[in-house]
Amino acid sequence: MLAAWLITTHGGSAHAAALGPCDIYGNTGTPCVAAHSTTRALYASYDGPLYDVARFSDSKVKKIGLLTTGGYANAAAQDAFCKNTVCMITRIYDQSPLHNDLTVEGSGGNGHADVGARADALPVVVDGHAVYGLLVFAGVGYRNDKTIGVATNGQPEGMYMVTSGTHVNGACCFDYGNAEVNNDDNGNGHMDAINFGTECWFAKCYGTGPWVQADMENGLFASNEGVSEDTANTGNTSPFVTALIKNNGQNAMAIKAGDATQGLLSTTFSGGEPVVNGGGYSPMHQEGAIVLGTGGDNSNGSIGSFFEGVMTAGFPTDATDNEVQANIVSVGYGGATGIVGNLKSNAEISLLTQSPCCQDYYLSHQGSASTAAVIAPVATGNATEAADATWIVRPGLANATCLSFEARNRPGDYLRHYNFQLMRESYDGTSQFEEDGTFCPVKGNDGSGKSFQSFNYPTKFIRDYNYNVYVAGDGGTNAWDTTIGFPNDSSWTVKAPLSP
Ligand code: AHR
Ligand code: AHR
Repeated sequence: MLAAWLITTHGGSAHAAALGPCDIYGNTGTPCVAAHSTTRALYASYDGPLYDVARFSDSKVKKIGLLTTGGYANAAAQDAFCKNTVCMITRIYDQSPLHNDLTVEGSGGNGHADVGARADALPVVVDGHAVYGLLVFAGVGYRNDKTIGVATNGQPEGMYMVTSGTHVNGACCFDYGNAEVNNDDNGNGHMDAINFGTECWFAKCYGTGPWVQADMENGLFASNEGVSEDTANTGNTSPFVTALIKNNGQNAMAIKAGDATQGLLSTTFSGGEPVVNGGGYSPMHQEGAIVLGTGGDNSNGSIGSFFEGVMTAGFPTDATDNEVQANIVSVGYGGATGIVGNLKSNAEISLLTQSPCCQDYYLSHQGSASTAAVIAPVATGNATEAADATWIVRPGLANATCLSFEARNRPGDYLRHYNFQLMRESYDGTSQFEEDGTFCPVKGNDGSGKSFQSFNYPTKFIRDYNYNVYVAGDGGTNAWDTTIGFPNDSSWTVKAPLSP
């Protein structure tokens, strides 16, 4: 009765799904042996911590837990603890009874010791709750080399993670899964991990990625031949991606990918284990360590995003995979916060220019990897243009009393200036980016609306000029500093988000 009530009242409500992904795996005979998330409980009954944050100011550590049993991360507790300082995520708890927690990875055969992720670098929304994902840069990695219950030496296993298609690169190796216990490359088949990125190890791959592949050591496999056999698999670029692999350890594996916010998983490969690349993958030789964010030998040039992930004992059925994907979709990653049209933290907004030329032009980006901001009209019914003109207000990356603008459709990407031009770029963890990406709202320079003062160049304001956008002074050496039109061009009307 209670379960039915939870199901029927679910949807944007305060409570979580009636079952977590690990309940689904457990009910179908392939229990979780690792369950990691910074955003939510992965069992309906879980009420322990999700992760630890350590703050720079005094090195104190705090466990960040849940708002309710089986619910979502208590991000407000992190915000309070980390106020006026910087926190790093130092431990990600395993919610399974096996306690295979991840801590910051030590040095390995191909990488110096890693560091933790900055705790507030990837604000997102899940089921209407503001939470934080884990933003991995080159040199960030987590690991556990002494696990219990994780598959070794040809035992079957499955795993998935929720990641992002907007924050990726082609360096080795943004992985989550089974790896070597000594942080080194111990040969083919000694890894069985999900890889997500744009590295095409065995050409051919189709499109530009990023692709879900299996890192089985000394290769990122799209199939048992290495190469992609799925011409339709051009990659998964959506803001939230479900990436799944499973391997029975002896002779069968599958790779699946999908949008974590809608629809079903696509099977991009299902068949045998690799016999190419010198062999050694069939049967497998997994060692049972768990890696997150790097390759098996701690190759750590890759970037990526992590929201949740699990590993199972046993080879999950396709029906179970589908049920887990439905569960992930049901919690609404990236959904709206409900705060709209104002400059409060986590509000979604669009910014209309007050330039007389362009009265229905909005501050927009244009979707490619790193892009200049523009002002542009938004055609009615054009969802892409609407999303490109929608921003989420975040506490200023360099100073929380000011603000930063995150792209609605690209988690982890912010507006920042570079050579005084406004760009939408992936946050890179540097203080230069943080300062370039922080703006302080003041009354509009033309007497109405708002102007946004550059944090590190306080005489400059966000201004459109010739349809591009800059930080500009009221007079100065750059063309866009012209005093003509400055008051209107540097004033903006804060509107309800075009893409809610
Ligand atoms: O298999 C790809 C990578 O190759 C592994 O992650 C790493 O251990 C090795 O360098
Ligand atoms: O936009 C002005 C400066 O240009 C930025 O502060 C810096 O990132 C770049 O050199």
